Amino acid sequence: ERLPELLRSMPKAELHIHIEGSLEPELIFALAARNGVALPYPDVDSLRRAYAFTNLQSFLDIYYAGASVLLREQDFYDMAQAYFRRAAADKVVCAEIFFDPQTHTARGVAMQVVIDGLHRACVDAKKDFGIDASLILCFLRHLSEEDAFATLEAAKPYLDRIIGVGLDSSELGHPPEKFARVFAQCRELGLHVVAHAGEEGPPAYIHAALDVLHAERIDHGVQAIHDPALMDRLARERIPLTVCPLSNQKLCVFPNLADHNIGALLAAGLAVTINSDDPAYFGGYMNDNFLQTFAATGLDSDAAYQLSRNAFEGSFADAATKQRYI
Ligand code: ADE
Ligand code: ZN
Repeated sequence: ERLPELLRSMPKAELHIHIEGSLEPELIFALAARNGVALPYPDVDSLRRAYAFTNLQSFLDIYYAGASVLLREQDFYDMAQAYFRRAAADKVVCAEIFFDPQTHTARGVAMQVVIDGLHRACVDAKKDFGIDASLILCFLRHLSEEDAFATLEAAKPYLDRIIGVGLDSSELGHPPEKFARVFAQCRELGLHVVAHAGEEGPPAYIHAALDVLHAERIDHGVQAIHDPALMDRLARERIPLTVCPLSNQKLCVFPNLADHNIGALLAAGLAVTINSDDPAYFGGYMNDNFLQTFAATGLDSDAAYQLSRNAFEGSFADAATKQRYI
């Protein structure tokens, strides 16, 4: 009784949320109607029934199709505002939001439209929900280095509204090295750097994210468990791991939530955090991730405080903001 209440009520920082992954089926259909976009599903229920994933790629195919309804600045605003409303209900007070501009620019949506809408929602999130929100631009790793450089060029007029860059999409076959030069330029521009690594991919991708991209946080990183030397390094350097338990379960990274290695990662001294990844697709926002993970794995209240502290320490918020919650 007391542990669930602690999990629900403690202040949280969310460091791994793809805003396109917060698009609920109801909003997908509303935006499709508003914009005259045809969907390959007749209604909300049949779309939701398609959310039966076997691996990362089987999810990404549906996730990119869902994002096709986003065309106008107001669409991006409405999507982000809906996320902030749910996040606030889960006591999220700080959110660092991933977005995938290439998904939209490839459909002819201008970078300015994407960033204007998301940024306006971030400004209003502080006013309306008391959430400190910021944006992290993610490069799609299944696309080319050249495409990533073009995306960075298109984003340059708006870098004051972005705190960092990330790397997402299909991991296997697209190692971090592919984006070494893009990330070097991002760091020269003063941007923070994170990368998905070790979600499905091997520990070598985590090493490369750290050594080649100079990632400050690792998104997912759960495959580190197979590399003892890497585990030691992650613990020693307190590299935050933005773990997403319900995502890992739904994408069959672990057969069941009870099999998740979050307890082992914490016990090894890693700076683990809990996050929702793509909450509209994986069956839950922050509190669902905390409550279901604790129930399935038997984590205790010490772990709850540790996870919350790790997230604020690992965030890119200014020192004063972090200090309020640590
Ligand atoms: N894009 C959205 N969610 C993702 C995930 N879990 N892994 C890689 N790319 C993603
Ligand atoms: Zn992710």
